[in-house]
Amino acid sequence: MIKMKELPYPLDALEPYYDRQTLDIHYNTLYKGYVDNTNKTQEKLSKAREKGNFENIKCLEKDLSFFGSGVILHELFFENMGPALPTSPSTSLMEQIIKDFGSYEKFKEQFTESSKVVEASGWNLLVWVPEFKKLEILQCEKHQNLTLWGCKPLLVLDMWEHSYFLQYKTKRPEYINAFWNIVNWNEVNRRFAIAIL
Ligand SMILES: [Fe+2]
Repeated sequence: MIKMKELPYPLDALEPYYDRQTLDIHYNTLYKGYVDNTNKTQEKLSKAREKGNFENIKCLEKDLSFFGSGVILHELFFENMGPALPTSPSTSLMEQIIKDFGSYEKFKEQFTESSKVVEASGWNLLVWVPEFKKLEILQCEKHQNLTLWGCKPLLVLDMWEHSYFLQYKTKRPEYINAFWNIVNWNEVNRRFAIAIL
């Protein structure tokens, strides 16, 4: 059984950039749903093994990838946001950003533009790719499609409509611009330091 991770700040801590109601629904209803459904799927897989009945195995493996990835990405998302305090990339992360994107501004521009055009329901991610020893930006469809195997997500932005529609309606660029004010770089720096070990 997996359990919900605690939200590391109060529900109104991200205002005005991310409002209380949106965060409440996102965390307490939607994220909870992914946790519950991951547990249900794991139970069903356990029963299938007990009974030796793998009739629904294709569906169950897909569900595990979808719901489980939903859990993981939402936890990363909630943790890589925080109250609008001045945090910034660490020296080592900034050096890597400059090496791989040319400058912080170019990284931010690529991340922003990539986020704007995530198709339908998906995510935009800054990842460390150990195989390439390089930072990359990836789009993800749903929670699990399109990835570079083995990559370590460092900074993720939820581009599902449920993540912004209540507050920003169809104005995706405004949501993305607001997000930059509440990125918790301390958490991103921590993930980067572990990822490059
Ligand atoms: Fe979400």
